[in-house]
Amino acid sequence: MRIHQEWIKQFGSDDTPVFNDLQQYMFLAHFRSLNWLDFLTDMYVCIEALGGEAVQQIVPMADPGTRESLKVPLQDEVDHVEFGLSRLRDELARLPQTESAAYLQSIEARLDFLDDTLHDMGIDVPGMFEAVGVDYQKVVEMVMFRRQQILESLAQPLAA
Ligand SMILES: [Fe+2]
Repeated sequence: MRIHQEWIKQFGSDDTPVFNDLQQYMFLAHFRSLNWLDFLTDMYVCIEALGGEAVQQIVPMADPGTRESLKVPLQDEVDHVEFGLSRLRDELARLPQTESAAYLQSIEARLDFLDDTLHDMGIDVPGMFEAVGVDYQKVVEMVMFRRQQILESLAQPLAA
């Protein structure tokens, strides 16, 4: 973190954190309040997988140096997502069939709730994407497509 902050300063970029102290505290409080299953859903499906999908949409627009520097961290993210989704799949498989089916049904509502919360925190998500010249509606479409894929992939072993 410190290295990044100093680096950003050196470049003379705006170093105001995207999330202020209160928002960071609220995120921490939210994730600490969760049981393991909900944590896997909120952290790995919502933040890591879907947030990562949104980030992927802007990577091609970065300059070559930035793109190169993102290769390793982005591969890291792919591994995080893989870990989280496989853990979630395992946890669901361990539940009685009716419970796992019910949980799967509730994931969509959890994701909608988290999405609304983010927007309600006063974070101008569309503005952030538009500021770097990305069509926000397109990002939303890609994220929703990925979300559907994930939900289907989680449902598959349950149906088998
Ligand atoms: Fe990650």
